[in-house]
Amino acid sequence: MRAVLSKVVGGPDTLVIEELPDPQPGPGEVRLRVRACGVNYPDVLIIEDKYQFKPERPFAPGGEVAGEVEALGEGVTGLKLGDRVIGQAGWGGMAEKLVLNAARCTPMPDSMPFEEGAAFFLTYGTSYYALKQRAAIKPGESLLVLGAAGGVGLAAVELGKAMGAQVIAAASTQEKLDLAKAHGAHAGVVYPAGPFDKDGQKELANLFKQACGPNGADVIYDAVGGDYAEASLRSIAWEGRFLVIGFPAGIPRIPLNLTLLKGCQIVGVFWGAFTARQPQENQQNLRELLAMYAEGKIRPYVSSTYPLERAGEAITELAERRAQGKVVVTLA
Ligand SMILES: NC(=O)c1ccc[n+]([C@@H]2O[C@H](COP(=O)([O-])OP(=O)(O)OC[C@H]3O[C@@H](n4cnc5c(N)ncnc54)[C@H](OP(=O)(O)O)[C@@H]3O)[C@@H](O)[C@H]2O)c1
Repeated sequence: MRAVLSKVVGGPDTLVIEELPDPQPGPGEVRLRVRACGVNYPDVLIIEDKYQFKPERPFAPGGEVAGEVEALGEGVTGLKLGDRVIGQAGWGGMAEKLVLNAARCTPMPDSMPFEEGAAFFLTYGTSYYALKQRAAIKPGESLLVLGAAGGVGLAAVELGKAMGAQVIAAASTQEKLDLAKAHGAHAGVVYPAGPFDKDGQKELANLFKQACGPNGADVIYDAVGGDYAEASLRSIAWEGRFLVIGFPAGIPRIPLNLTLLKGCQIVGVFWGAFTARQPQENQQNLRELLAMYAEGKIRPYVSSTYPLERAGEAITELAERRAQGKVVVTLA
């Protein structure tokens, strides 16, 4: 099988494609014929050793795949050869074949294309856990989403709307904002791409204040970090919840006096840990997400696809802040 490998620490240009023996499933495992692999920001980080998990090299990036079961390990029940599934891998997905624990595979609806299956659980799973379990968002509340046209951001926009929130999208270009509005945002703001000096930070905070109105945002979904975090926190509502999702713009430091003045909470969101610690709750979330997909309330927006040999370019789209919705690597 062919796989895209990270053999040295570095950016997407360090990835190489190589022929490897097919992996064999052990007890409780299945081997998937990978048909599509979703690209997520963790792929940008993991090949540079900047992610919370640092797999031993060589490894293939790619945390989420859709494909068919083509071999069963001993004792696997509940899955059979040919089943179409979504697999949660962490890494290893940018390869023609992938061995996974059967428990990490979820059957896909017949109507779901592989590209959408590979762009589904990581983004919607993260954003649903954030809004449902961590923020306990209620219908009628306002939700400000930063990076609203990105993978997890666009999922948060769609889910916020589906959960009855008033969604305010924030993004760095008009094109990105228009995409978020087409996916359900009620209002929005275009922010500058940064970097920001002191005056720039003040202007950014004012932009968010105008966008959120006098009452502020009940929930802020921050998948961007950097200077955007504090500037947006300044427009949170009394007793609001600020969701910490990710830091493509850098890890921010927040003055804690803001939490006192706003009576607000800063809430960490780590979906991967949630899936490991509370698997049953996660399974329930995934069932609810598939029901929303069937009802047409949510649907991954795949803006571009790349063949396996161009997987590095797919990761570069995210690294260079160009990606909209989801970028997917597809395999014949
Ligand atoms: N907490 C969790 O459990 C969890 C789960 C999944 C992902 N994440 C994290 O969530 C973040 C977003 O992931 P994603 O897969 O949705 O990525 P993505 O599709 O690339 O979206 C990230 C967004 O961040 C913004 N951004 C700001 N500065 C940027 C920069 N210097 N480079 C790239 N993007 C920048 C961009 O929006 P604008 O241009 O509009 O600002 C972009 O759309 C990542 O940090 C990822 O690690 C966390």
